[in-house]
Amino acid sequence: MKKALITGISGQDGSYLTELLLSKGYQVHGMIRRSSTFNTGRIDHIYRDPHNGKKARMRLHYGDLASSDSLQNMISEVEPDEIYNLAAQSHVRVSFDMPEYTGDVTGLGTLRLLEAVRRIGADVRFYQASTSEMFGDALPPQSEMTPFAPQSPYAAAKTYAHWVTKNYRDGYGIFACSGILFNHESPRRGETFVTRKITRAVAAILAGKQTHLYMGNLDAKRDWGYAPEYVEVMWRLLQHDEPMDIVIGTGESYSVREFLEEAFGYVALDYRDYVKIDKHYFRPTEVDYLLADPGKARTVLGWEPKIRFHDLVRIMMDADLELQGLDVPGEGKRLLAERFDGWHRWEDQVVSMDK
Ligand code: NAP
Ligand code: GDD
Repeated sequence: MKKALITGISGQDGSYLTELLLSKGYQVHGMIRRSSTFNTGRIDHIYRDPHNGKKARMRLHYGDLASSDSLQNMISEVEPDEIYNLAAQSHVRVSFDMPEYTGDVTGLGTLRLLEAVRRIGADVRFYQASTSEMFGDALPPQSEMTPFAPQSPYAAAKTYAHWVTKNYRDGYGIFACSGILFNHESPRRGETFVTRKITRAVAAILAGKQTHLYMGNLDAKRDWGYAPEYVEVMWRLLQHDEPMDIVIGTGESYSVREFLEEAFGYVALDYRDYVKIDKHYFRPTEVDYLLADPGKARTVLGWEPKIRFHDLVRIMMDADLELQGLDVPGEGKRLLAERFDGWHRWEDQVVSMDK
């Protein structure tokens, strides 16, 4: 049985990756942060008490990317075949408020993990969660050949982590890969990222619990894909013969305004009646236009996204309407049922982190 260690297992991607790896027969070890309340809402449905014996193939360990000792102990104890480094302070706006912390966790945290691998001499395949934010204001479309131009402390930290991953691959022969993933969303997306903020708000407005939605820059454009499809590429990348870096995105880009139109339009509302602008949500420097050139993913990994922008909005809208106990148009649910038959099911999609 292969063993995987996932940092950031309690996040959006960590939860989907866990389901995928369990479906492939892996034993999954996840690192979680100690907190004063439970922070495992996205993986509670997978968790089995280890005292129940053989069925518990997911184990959780306390640790933190800021703590080298916790990383070293975990790798020594688990002896993983694959490490997926998904943990990060991942919010771009927050990184302007907490630049030092973001640099420490998102940047140096990756170095700590790689250095633990090197010192222990672990024979392991390593995945680094790199990001399209590293392209910053580089002209679209962005590919593996596009120079980085980070526009935030988060993007700068991720760029450092990206280069150090390559350095450990080149310098020490570690099988280390970076997936340069464009934005990917789902019903499990954190509530303060723009897509989920919008779909939750539309549902809350319909339920009569909210009257307005305060937003920042509506003109930014993003290449939005569906998270479960992206975690599958993480796994595929580590199964390849050679370690490499790869761009993952849909090759289509839409503005935040278009997302608003689509989400409100799905339930026959006009976003202009509800949205107000609050400068608080603007960033000191913005990334205006992200658009992936996923050619390498197509040719080298045979990867093609099944869910695109309009489908994604419907999937997220159905889930948030359901969480509010409202009637669900159901187009998103139908799409998932048609296009996915495997490891993730509709009922596992709907996760409220508010509980
Ligand atoms: P997410 O939902 O924000 O999850 C982040 C995870 O990191 C959570 O499990 C969080 O734990 C954990 N974490 C934060 N600080 C930590 C620390 N100091 N030590 C240990 N764990 C820590 O992020 P995501 O959307 O799943 O994204 C996964 C990774 O891909 C991130 O590195 C992100 O930067 C990167 N990425 C995301 C996208 C995207 O569009 N989603 C695109 C490109 C790259 P808690 O639950 O305790 O907070
Ligand atoms: N969060 C947020 N909230 N964003 C807003 C808002 C708002 O109220 N109003 C407008 N936006 C704009 C932001 O300025 C940005 O241009 C865009 O919506 C997307 O913002 P986020 O959803 O916060 O995502 P992001 O693109 O900054 O970062 C995400 O994607 C990266 C990959 O490109 C995160 O998941 C990063 O971790 C990831 O690396």
